[in-house]
Amino acid sequence: MGFKINLSSKKMVGIDIGYSSIKILELSKAGNKYTLDSIDLVNLPSGIVSDGFLKDHASAIAYIKSSFANHGMKDKNVVISIPCKHVIIKNIDMPKMKESELDSAIFYEAQQYITYDIKEVSFDYEILGNSAADAGSNLIMIIAGKKDIINDRVDLMNECGLHSPIVDVDCIATENMFNFNYPEETEQMAGIIKVGATETNVHIVNKGFNLFRRDIPIGGVNITEEIAKKFQMDFNEAENIKTGGIEKRDENFKTNYMIYINMIVARITSEIQRTIDYFAANNDKQYPKKIFLTGGSAMLSGLSGDIESKLNIPVSIINPFRKIVFGNNIGDTSFIESKYSLFGVAVGLAVRGLEP
Ligand SMILES: Nc1ncnc2c1ncn2[C@@H]1O[C@H](COP(=O)(O)OP(=O)(O)OP(=O)(O)O)[C@@H](O)[C@H]1O
Ligand SMILES: [Mg+2]
Repeated sequence: MGFKINLSSKKMVGIDIGYSSIKILELSKAGNKYTLDSIDLVNLPSGIVSDGFLKDHASAIAYIKSSFANHGMKDKNVVISIPCKHVIIKNIDMPKMKESELDSAIFYEAQQYITYDIKEVSFDYEILGNSAADAGSNLIMIIAGKKDIINDRVDLMNECGLHSPIVDVDCIATENMFNFNYPEETEQMAGIIKVGATETNVHIVNKGFNLFRRDIPIGGVNITEEIAKKFQMDFNEAENIKTGGIEKRDENFKTNYMIYINMIVARITSEIQRTIDYFAANNDKQYPKKIFLTGGSAMLSGLSGDIESKLNIPVSIINPFRKIVFGNNIGDTSFIESKYSLFGVAVGLAVRGLEP
């Protein structure tokens, strides 16, 4: 009698299109080992992405094609995502039934939660497992994404020669990335907070499931705009100062800047606190035991310490590559290590594509 071990390598490219940059990375999987084969960060001029839609397909195509060419990425299996705000996601309990009956029963049940015009959405669902409340039911995640944004992004991929992409959702990718990298942290309630360019997403998760999501309309772009206004400089200069350039300024400027940035940080913390208090007030006063930060603005000076001290909950910055080995082609890893908060969604997308 023989046995087989499947060590054949599979590859997948995750492409995360954000307001300020496109993150592209290729992962391969052999057995249980995940390797990062390529990675790229393509900064976007402002105006290319607006409310999640690509306003300039020609430029985005050129950026993506040259990123694939420069990094020798030949793989055409891609996973993309759409922003959470264009999607309705809800976990519902449904009695267990035959697969043939499930599609129409779920669609019928889901319609009450879909506040968009039903003709304008693509609908999907995923069976998450047994319902906690009733052994005869399954917990099912229903997902209804707006067709206009899905088509916008799928068209872009087709125009890049990347056909039939898998389409995921930013916030689901973030949670998958966390579950993949921090399996030992999934046993207790945790907060995952993604602070991006246009918004801050608060997720409360437990045992690999989502309990709550809420978006706060503050992100890195607002912060840069406020710095630019306060210190009377243009956006690019303010962005440079915020992302490390402050070190080159004189002591007087540094002092004034730190006072101002601490004020902005305190405002973000207080919005996060309000959101988590709201969750707790509606959930038996339960608070997450730990908070995990990701997204580019997680690197904002003083943010993680401020959240930790004011909410009195330990805060760490997520390493999306915690369970991933860097391949030989990656070369100097210091670039990735200094910016890894940017790559959480892209990792979640590629990992999703490699799941059995
Ligand atoms: N070192 C840093 N300190 C503070 N902020 C930073 C730093 N590096 C990057 N950022 C900010 O992170 C933001 C980009 O984060 P991210 O890539 O997660 O957002 P995005 O995917 O482009 O946008 P979104 O998801 O909101 O559409 C920018 O606003 C940028 O200014
Ligand atoms: Mg993003």
